[in-house]
Amino acid sequence: MKQRDHAKLIAALSEEYERRSPRSAALNREALKYLVDGGSHTIRLIRPFPPRIVSAAGAYVTDEDGHRILDFWQGHHANILGHNPAIVTAALSRAFGFGFGLQSGFTDALQARVAEILCARIGAERVRFTTSGSLATMYATLLARAFTGRELVMKVGGGWHGAQPWGLVGVDLNVENHGSFAHAESRGLPSSVAHQVIVTRLNDADMLESQLRKHGGRVACFILEPFMGSAGCLPATLAYLRAARELTRKHGALLIFDEVISGFRFCAGSSTRLFAVQPDLATYAKIIGGGMPVAAVAGRAEVMSLSGRAGGVKFSGGTYSCHPSSLLAAETMMRHLIENEADVYSRIASLGAKARRVMERAFREEGISARCTGEGGDALPGSSMGAVHFPYSDECDCSLPEQTRNPEVCDVTLSDTVLQLALLLEDVHVMHGLGSVSAAHTEGDIDRLGDACRKAARRIAHSL
Ligand SMILES: Cc1ncc(COP(=O)(O)O)c(C=O)c1O
Repeated sequence: MKQRDHAKLIAALSEEYERRSPRSAALNREALKYLVDGGSHTIRLIRPFPPRIVSAAGAYVTDEDGHRILDFWQGHHANILGHNPAIVTAALSRAFGFGFGLQSGFTDALQARVAEILCARIGAERVRFTTSGSLATMYATLLARAFTGRELVMKVGGGWHGAQPWGLVGVDLNVENHGSFAHAESRGLPSSVAHQVIVTRLNDADMLESQLRKHGGRVACFILEPFMGSAGCLPATLAYLRAARELTRKHGALLIFDEVISGFRFCAGSSTRLFAVQPDLATYAKIIGGGMPVAAVAGRAEVMSLSGRAGGVKFSGGTYSCHPSSLLAAETMMRHLIENEADVYSRIASLGAKARRVMERAFREEGISARCTGEGGDALPGSSMGAVHFPYSDECDCSLPEQTRNPEVCDVTLSDTVLQLALLLEDVHVMHGLGSVSAAHTEGDIDRLGDACRKAARRIAHSL
């Protein structure tokens, strides 16, 4: 399929964006003097420049130019209660008031309390904390390789497990390489890493079985997101998760669920609780930190124990691991979600369904064929996530990363770049075609999203 060329449209949108955001434009010029590309997290560095944020509350952020922007990215899906939720900010100010919060370098009662909550909610025997999802998946991989004494790591093509050596293989689809995910993503990686990662396909149990039959005796672990985030909001099916459990056990490999996005996103605990498939290890971050950098690896005691004194896996260090204010935010958030589970999750699932509906409808009504993914599939009851895709053919169901991330199948520039810019002109912020709904969003916010999509669609339609 011939890909559309959006260069002119992007230039026109950028010009308009620049006109209405002079402060952010000027600050970007300053930032470029000291920061590569003007910032420190690639996808936040929207081109021509990102809005520079001064404050945030709930569903909204305010930028340097005074725009009040309706945000559906919500801290990379971390802010399930919206930005700066009062329950967390109040707990932190109280603690700072009596001298608790920045005294890192010790341990305390809080750490064990947070570990107890997490283990109880996700069915794990032991947990160890760190500061980012990338580190958590790296440590989980080290643990699996040490426990099994094997080399290979199996993953789903398009899966994002953070920027760590084994995570940096098989993320972006390479059209030139027959639409394959199987290649290393970063310069500078040891060449051996690319050979240590086997890339398989979401929801294809036959492929998983044949690869395990082929490489089984050398595979240390199969790591997957039960609900794929950056690949396009795609759920694994229940049958696939069950097959993954059975096949990894049969071939002596560990099953790792990367719940960095899905943990506490669909219920107050692991998504495992909803589909009753227990992994050997699981990784958590984002929501569990309550807005602060908290991540965890959790699972079977005999595997986790390798991270201890006698285990030999260097899951250690981390000056800010278990930072007291971070763990206080984590405890506050997890307790809140547990106590308000029924309300929070039914509310965000219903708003999420509405967001997906209004986006699809807005584009269709303006003559642009769109498909919004993010439903929970057969394993999850409801979902607050969403990503709009623009497939070139109506026959494409947008259920696999091989479709959603393939620019020959879906107009990826339209969903990722053009739409983001066009919606920013309406003071709405999305990433990869949307993001997630928080409990701070309202029905009115979702209607506003629909209106903004309609206006964006009009700008887009006349140049398609
Ligand atoms: C599924 C998944 N795993 C791991 C990571 C990495 O987490 P972090 O960005 O905290 O390093 C991410 C981040 O988006 C993620 O979505």
